Amino acid sequence: MRLGPLTLASNLFLSPLAGYTNLPFRLTVRELGGLGLATTDLVNARSLIEKKAKALKLIETAPADRPLSVQLFGSVPEEMRDAAVFLESLGIAAVDINMGCPVRKVCRVGGGSAMMTELSKTAQLVKGMVDAVKIPVTAKMRLGWDEENLTAPDLARALEEVGVAAIFVHGRTRQQGFGGIVNLAGIRAVVQALAKAPVIGNGDVTTPEAAKVMLDQTGCAGVSIGRGAFYNPWIFHHTRHYLQTGELLPEPAFDERVRVMCRHLDLMIGVFGELHACRMFRKVAPWYSKRFGPAKEFNHQVVRVSSRAEFLEVLDHYRRWRQQFLDENGELKPRFRPPPMTASFMQEPGATHAGHIPVPRGPVEAW
Ligand SMILES: Cc1cc2nc3c(=O)[nH]c(=O)nc-3n(C[C@H](O)[C@H](O)[C@H](O)COP(=O)(O)O)c2cc1C
Repeated sequence: MRLGPLTLASNLFLSPLAGYTNLPFRLTVRELGGLGLATTDLVNARSLIEKKAKALKLIETAPADRPLSVQLFGSVPEEMRDAAVFLESLGIAAVDINMGCPVRKVCRVGGGSAMMTELSKTAQLVKGMVDAVKIPVTAKMRLGWDEENLTAPDLARALEEVGVAAIFVHGRTRQQGFGGIVNLAGIRAVVQALAKAPVIGNGDVTTPEAAKVMLDQTGCAGVSIGRGAFYNPWIFHHTRHYLQTGELLPEPAFDERVRVMCRHLDLMIGVFGELHACRMFRKVAPWYSKRFGPAKEFNHQVVRVSSRAEFLEVLDHYRRWRQQFLDENGELKPRFRPPPMTASFMQEPGATHAGHIPVPRGPVEAW
């Protein structure tokens, strides 16, 4: 897979998830393999050029965290351009522009999904960035503002004309939020609108099969995965294997999930310090536990941990509590196994929502 001058090891991408896709998480995923390119959380372009500590922390990286794209948001062309130049000078591999964020704070200043409503202004802004740097500039958008305004194909074409290296498209409108079904035909319309720039499809991919369906049905060149990677950081490795061989690797066992969760915490401690990392991990650990089977006891206690030792105590206690759900081989008894994940676009009509991917709670729930 190529992205402008960059050659990527796979056509699988980690979507930006504000508050989650920080350096420790990216390293955790990369260690498991299969990922082509990771993107940071969105970063305010102005804060970055003003070298605000918060913005610099968001772009913190490490030699093992390559190739890395930084996602910028903003609507002032000079600021977006200068931020891209600054990122290039730091050795960042690519710059992504947020055109999908529906949060009021971002749209009010003309950034995020508001950019999808002003085609020529947005194309001019992107041109200014593309002309100023050699690294690829990409754009991430939704299908449009609402069902009546599916502007993504037109916007993508306008951006291709000014030299954008790829388009990431979440197959929902801004109005849809995270509800309803990811619209594969909508993603296909963006693919068809472009002469050569690759389109990366996005939305609800939680299994290797879902990635393949998205690739096959839309003609997109790659797939970007957000929440699915939080459930399952192995998804990139498993998907690449499935795309190459047609074989589905078994779901990771409980011990492997715990190993990776602990590794993730240790990487968080390395980057944020023990107390802050443990506090942040209170909202991360419950994503891992969604695939542990019954996990009430774990979720209840993990939201209070303030140190690594406390975390390990909670885990120890949980292991003992979890025994009651296991058979003689140490496997979860069938009735306690979590249901298989199913992408919205692969569900049978009228199916229940078991296996649906939830949206994390908090101020970013509107993404
Ligand atoms: C908690 C959260 C934070 C997000 N933050 C960003 C962001 O910073 N920039 C962005 O372009 N999209 C953001 N998104 C949207 C995701 O990148 C992605 O488009 C969306 O979650 C659909 O993909 P998924 O179903 O694989 O998660 C966020 C989504 C969530 C749930």
